[in-house]
Parts: sequence; C-alpha cells; structure tokens
Amino acid sequence: MAEAGKAVTLRGELSGLFKSALSTAFPAAEEAPIIASCNNPQFGDYQCNNAMGLFGKLKGKEGAPKNPREVATAIVSSLPDNSTIDNTSLAGPGFINCKVSSAYLAGRINALMTQGVASLAPPLRYKRVVVDFSSPNVAKEMHVGHLRSTIIGDTIANTLEFCGADVVRLNHIGDWGTQFGMLIEHMAELRPGGLAESRDEDVADLQTLYRAAKKRFDEEEEFKVRAREAVTRLQSGDEECIAAWQRICDASRREFQAIYSRLGVTLQERGESFYNPMLKDVVEELCEKGVAEVSEGATCVFVEGCDVPLIVQKSDGGYGYASTDMAAIKQRVQQEKADWVIYVTDIGQAPHFDMVFAAARKAGWLPEKGSAQPPRVSHVGFGLVLGEDGKKFKTRSGDVVRLVELLDEAKQRCRDSVAARREESGDPIDEAELEAAACAMGYGAVKYADLKNSRLTNYKFSFDAMLELKGNTAVYLLYAHARIAGIVRKAGKDVDALVAGGEAFKLEHPRERELAMAIVQFPEALEDMLEELTPNRLTDYLYTLSETFSNFYTECKVLGGEAEDSRLILVEATARVMRQCFKLLGITPLYRI
Ligand code: ARG
Repeated sequence: MAEAGKAVTLRGELSGLFKSALSTAFPAAEEAPIIASCNNPQFGDYQCNNAMGLFGKLKGKEGAPKNPREVATAIVSSLPDNSTIDNTSLAGPGFINCKVSSAYLAGRINALMTQGVASLAPPLRYKRVVVDFSSPNVAKEMHVGHLRSTIIGDTIANTLEFCGADVVRLNHIGDWGTQFGMLIEHMAELRPGGLAESRDEDVADLQTLYRAAKKRFDEEEEFKVRAREAVTRLQSGDEECIAAWQRICDASRREFQAIYSRLGVTLQERGESFYNPMLKDVVEELCEKGVAEVSEGATCVFVEGCDVPLIVQKSDGGYGYASTDMAAIKQRVQQEKADWVIYVTDIGQAPHFDMVFAAARKAGWLPEKGSAQPPRVSHVGFGLVLGEDGKKFKTRSGDVVRLVELLDEAKQRCRDSVAARREESGDPIDEAELEAAACAMGYGAVKYADLKNSRLTNYKFSFDAMLELKGNTAVYLLYAHARIAGIVRKAGKDVDALVAGGEAFKLEHPRERELAMAIVQFPEALEDMLEELTPNRLTDYLYTLSETFSNFYTECKVLGGEAEDSRLILVEATARVMRQCFKLLGITPLYRI
C-alpha cells in the first residue's frame, strides 16, 4: 500500500504546472499560482486566475503586456509538457480554463483501486498533532456541547490520521478544582463513619450528588468552610480525600465511556489533574519572563486587545482553568512534541484560547503570531445545539437532555423504520442485522446532522430532520451506499480482478467523466476540511459524490450494458471513497439495509 499523506491532489498538480509556467513566462514577478474550480463546468474543470493581477503588477514596466489576455496567452504557452491537462481556453478578461485529460482521471482511479483509497490522502505538513476534544467535567452532566466536541473532534482526528499524522486524542476532562471539596464533604456525611465508609453506591447518581452538594455549598456558610478545607486536604494528598475523589472520577468515567462506546470514539484521558504538579513552575516561569504580573493580588497575563486578563493564579493562591491550560500548552509542545495543537470547544471559549495562545507566544513556547513555523495552535469553536423550538435544548419537562437517552432514541427510531420497511417489502430482517443497521443509522444520523452544519452556527436538533430518507442525511447516504454495493453484488464479478486484468476505463459519457472527477477530487475535500477545520466540507463532498453517482446511474446503464466492466470499476471506486468518508465521519457503512 502506498504511504498515506504523500499524494498530490489534482488541484495541487495543476498548481505545480502553472507555477512552472508563471516562472518561465514572468520570472521576475515571483507569482504564486491561483487555481480554482471552474465556475462553469462547460468551459473546463479548473481555472488559473493569475493573468489579471499579474497584468496590474507588470503595468508600466518595460515590455509589459498590453492586456491581461496577453498575459494569459504567455502563461499558457509556457505550460510544461504534461499529460494532466487535455486543453486550455481563455475566457473573459484573462481566465485560463483547463480541461483535465480523461487519461489522468483514469490513472488516478486505477491507483485508488490498486493501491487503496489511502493512496489519495493529501500531503500534510504536520507530523504529530494533539487534538483536545470532548473534555466533559467530572460529576457534572455531559451535555450536548460535549457531544458536539466529541463528534467534531473525532472527525478531525480521523482525517489527520488518514493523512498520515500521528494523532494524540486527548480528553481534557475537568477532574480537578474546587467543586470536589463540596462533593467530598457531602459524601462524608452520607455515612455515619464518614469518608472511610464510602461505597460506590454513594456516587451512583452523580448528578443528584452534585446538585445536593451545590445546594448546601450555596446555602450553608459552615458547609462552605468545610468544603474549602476538604479542597486543601485533597490538594495536599490526604488519602481519604484522594480515595473519594477517585470514586467520583471513576463513576463519571463509566458514564462518559458509555457514550464513547456507543459512538465508537476512542480518547486518551488526560484530565486537568495531570497538570496539577506543573502549575507552580509554570506560573513562576511566566512571572520570571515578565509575561505575568501581580494585579490586585492575582497573577495575570494582560493580552493586548482583550478586556480581561488571563488569571494564572488567583489572589488566594489557587489555580484555575487558565493555569491548567497554560501548563497543558507548554507540556504539549515541549514534552509531547506536538507540531499542531487543536482544541475543540464551544465558541464561547474563543476569547479564553486567544489569551492562552497569546500568553504562550509571549513565553516563547510558540512562534510569533502569523508565523508559518510550527508548532501551530488552533481553536475549533462551534455553536449551540438548540431544540426544535429554537431555544436551549431541553427535554419536555425542562431537564438537561441525557445523551445516552438521546442516542437510544435515535437508534430505536431507526430500528422501527428499518423493520417496517423490510416487513413491507416482504423481506423481513433478522435480529443481528437489524441491530447493526439501527446502530449505524441512529448514531450515524446524530453525528452527521451535527457535522454537516457549518460548525460556527447554532443548529436545531431534530430527529425527524436527521432521519429523513431523502436529502443530505446519513440515512439517505447509508441507503445510497447500500444500493451501490448492491449493484456490484448483483454483477457477481471480482472488480479487483477486472482492474488487475487491465480493464481500460472508458470515460466517454459526460456523466462518467463527472463521476470520475468527483472521485478524484476526494483529497481536495480533505485538504479544504483540514485547512479550515470544517467537517462540513467533508459531508458536502460525500453528498455531492452520491448525487453525482445518481446522475451517472440514471443515464449510464451499468449491468448488462456495453461498458459494464469499465462502469463497474467506477461504481466500486465510488463505493470505496464513500466508505472512506463514512469512516472519517465515524459512521459505519451498511452493505444492505
Ligand atoms: N471541560 C471544559 C468544558 O467543559 C472543556 C475543556 C477544553 N479543553 C481545554 N484544554 N480547555 O467546557
């Protein structure tokens, strides 16, 4: 198998050809190629848009071209010999349209079939990437925001891995902090003998425990004092406190794991407590370097353009969320040797991360802003999940929606609908198959509905919308994939053998060519998605691919047609790319439904 993350995309290849043409035709201009998809596919597949800008740049100089079209002509005549571009044409003031050769498309599909889809993975500049995602808080409810972070973070991590990066998937859980004081103190009172007699049952219902402890903390002054003392004992390593804290963390962990198992997401837990031993030194370093200063008793980093400072040590000497994030960023770049650190949280935390990044730059842990040098840091923010009424997402009774129940409902609805459809068609489904289909569709639908939105916008959670059989939904795409797999099954031919036998593609029909082009553009979708860290680039691509397939299938006879073998290869290549997309999106493909 070819090494992942090495192949150049079609767009990249064209870019290379035009780069060479530009430097031959206008060596002094040092112009970088501007390549885009063609606005009108009738004229070509891609266009080079340099001529207009370059004309402006050259104007007034000796021997300058008379108009942009002249610039374009010079670029075209300097294109190196190649088998990628079939022909070019000029349009408008000086756009250069390119039509890609069918031989090139056929070659790429052949490579995909023989070397695997991974051979299409675009090159990646980063070797080791930390993705900090999901990151719920111990003893508190894991809410839809954490679900979004889990789903978006997983897709980003999967895509980076596919492109050859070594990805560290970190679950930065909130497992440290003052809330543990009240929890421990409350637990101590549940048993006559205090903490020493604590049982797992005491933490079985963490939300209730949390609420009760919080109520007392807010209402009883004397309890508050004891809770604070418990925090101090916990921080100084008191055995009973540590054991109680462990018990609480374990109970939360089991709840988180139930969600991760259902979603098929793997994460490495490295909670806030991991950084606790580093906090003192980090704050000292920030002070020594003059990055942090004491203001009104607290140790703060003031960042230009931010109204509030980043507090790295509170006036009572305690450390908080920001202190931990400073220690974490340092540890990730220096010890973990990450050349890219990505944080996936709600957009509300953008100012926090702006300050953390700015402070880390001041401390010299990160290169200057705008530098192309690694390590790079990115905050992937996302909007809210709303109920169908456009308000905060809640159950009918007004409670926080429990994620397990939400996933169960999605699954149950899919189970009912698949069973009913199969019953109707006189082809009842067996239990194991039904269970697999219900999980794939139900969980896939929840994930897809989230990923397909531009992540910054709020989106409405609607079972009805996400389970639609038509349109841009996981359910539609899973059916589409199953139908495609069914075509290959029906043909009863070994497609790999056809490829190995040297079956030549005939990309004669315009719909065949369109489909081949869509397949070959898969790595570009990945490149765009990683550039902007926007998973909806990938869902849009998948949806377009499946639409392009259906146009092809409507107009081009596959089974029993003249070009059956050639078209079967195209069908199977589509299915393989779709499956790779599903995999990146964390969705299990179905071969028959
Ligand atoms: N626990 C936090 C929350 O629930 C998210 C943590 C994100 N990661 C980080 N390094 N700050 O909002």
